[in-house]
Amino acid sequence: MTKSSSNKNNAKVVLELKNITKSYNTGGTVFTALNNVSLKIYEGEFVSITGPSGSGKSTLMHIIGLLDNPTSGEVLLGDRDVSKLKETQLAQIRNVTLGFVFQQFNLLPKTSAIENVLLPLLYSDVPKKFRNQMATDLLVKVGLENKMSNTPAQLSGGQQQRVAIARALINNPKIVLADEPTGNLDSKSGADVMKFLHKLNEEEGRTIVFVTHDMDLAKEANRMIIIKDGQINNHA
Ligand SMILES: Nc1ncnc2c1ncn2[C@@H]1O[C@H](COP(=O)(O)OP(=O)(O)OP(=O)(O)O)[C@@H](O)[C@H]1O
Ligand SMILES: [Mg+2]
Repeated sequence: MTKSSSNKNNAKVVLELKNITKSYNTGGTVFTALNNVSLKIYEGEFVSITGPSGSGKSTLMHIIGLLDNPTSGEVLLGDRDVSKLKETQLAQIRNVTLGFVFQQFNLLPKTSAIENVLLPLLYSDVPKKFRNQMATDLLVKVGLENKMSNTPAQLSGGQQQRVAIARALINNPKIVLADEPTGNLDSKSGADVMKFLHKLNEEEGRTIVFVTHDMDLAKEANRMIIIKDGQINNHA
């Protein structure tokens, strides 16, 4: 077996993209949204991905999150090349390794906060009797102990995003991916979400990768990746 690569602090690479290209074919025209992108994410890092609208941030995040296949290139999770796996296998890996937070929260509208948090456990082998306790603990952790039965419409945007964060954590993922997690929030709620992501990184050692077009937020990360026209452009 090859030795896994590490950075100067000897942190392990948890995720690596090698020469990723993503092209879309729309009405006979091919558009290259990502052009030969390579990057490594190390265990315990707090990384931001930033760049102008349309530069390829969400496309990159979808590929990092195994939600979309690249046109070419490799995606390595730990030492394993996952770029050629079938959707069922990818879904399984996503479910146990990655937690997702989206700009639009993506909660089920008619479903209570606690049931939304329980959703990712639907296909897990966690015994039923533990599930409610786990979801309750997470909602307490995000400060929503009094809102467990509220549906998304009965919650503020910031509270909905905290439900989404609790849901992202229910499978205890090593890596949390967030695409514009503060994009739909007022500045106070946005700051709370950022504070929480920092906490997950610093106190629990989770690797965080988040997308933002806001430079000030991007600078909060330990490392900033700048995307322009589908390429990493950290020297612009
Ligand atoms: N399914 C698709 N079909 C065709 N083109 C697409 C598709 N998805 C994205 N694109 C194009 O790829 C480019 C990158 O889109 P992407 O959503 O990654 O940008 P972004 O950096 O996340 O932008 P924003 O900051 O506005 O969210 C855009 O030009 C977009 O039009
Ligand atoms: Mg986007």
